[in-house]
Amino acid sequence: TLRPIIIQAPMPIEGESLAKRLKNVKEEKSGSFIFWIGTLDEYPVIVTKTGKGMENTAAATAVAIERYNPIAIINQGTSGGHDANLNVFDIVLGKRTTNIGSMKTPDLTEGQGSAPFKWIPMDLLASEGSAGEDPSAEKIRYFEGDQKLLAAANAVKNKYTKGKVVEGTIGSADIWNNEVDRIKWFHEKYGTSVEEMEGASAAQIAGAYHVPFLGIRILSNNKVNQGKYNPNTAAANQEYVFEVVKQYISMI
Ligand code: 5AD
Repeated sequence: TLRPIIIQAPMPIEGESLAKRLKNVKEEKSGSFIFWIGTLDEYPVIVTKTGKGMENTAAATAVAIERYNPIAIINQGTSGGHDANLNVFDIVLGKRTTNIGSMKTPDLTEGQGSAPFKWIPMDLLASEGSAGEDPSAEKIRYFEGDQKLLAAANAVKNKYTKGKVVEGTIGSADIWNNEVDRIKWFHEKYGTSVEEMEGASAAQIAGAYHVPFLGIRILSNNKVNQGKYNPNTAAANQEYVFEVVKQYISMI
């Protein structure tokens, strides 16, 4: 049997229009996750509503892999810009995805306060020892986007007309940053193009199971260049992801 392609969406507005474009759809649920199982060009495709955030996404990814044995996973939806050259409606292909909530603080004693710009990236996958003590954990962990998924996405980028499509770095954490200096710090230190709350979580679990993975994120807002939030970006991203999946199917 053919191994399905999984497309993940955190919010209903980020998945519903894609699910509607599948044929022969049947719905399955597990916990709070919804799987719309259908076909696209006669190939099995499953759109998942994961819910928002790292925890929902990690669990929904593991459940999906165990239940459906996917050939590839695309995590997609909206994001906030970290790069002044990117505008609302531009799309970032996650050449790399990284957890921007995994950090170690400097040693400060009582009364010395908190120094967030001195926090150090922490890689929980660096070793099996204590991340607090092990200096090898003091680095950024990047999850690489799958080459074949990236090739499929690049092959159809001219079909997207509402903005540009670029490769970049997606930063994920259960945090919505509104401090421009903080956003610039991530952009400089981690090289982030955008931030959202799911990609690195799905990338980590997909990686643990050796399932090819790509994050595809449209900017719905950008604090760095006053880009105002626009919810219509969620549907625009799904139109593009639909073309990416069709292209990928033609390459299988
Ligand atoms: N910061 C964090 N998450 C964002 N999202 C959109 N814009 C941002 C932003 N600036 C996405 C997250 C989450 C929901 C709040 O929208 O991925 O699912």
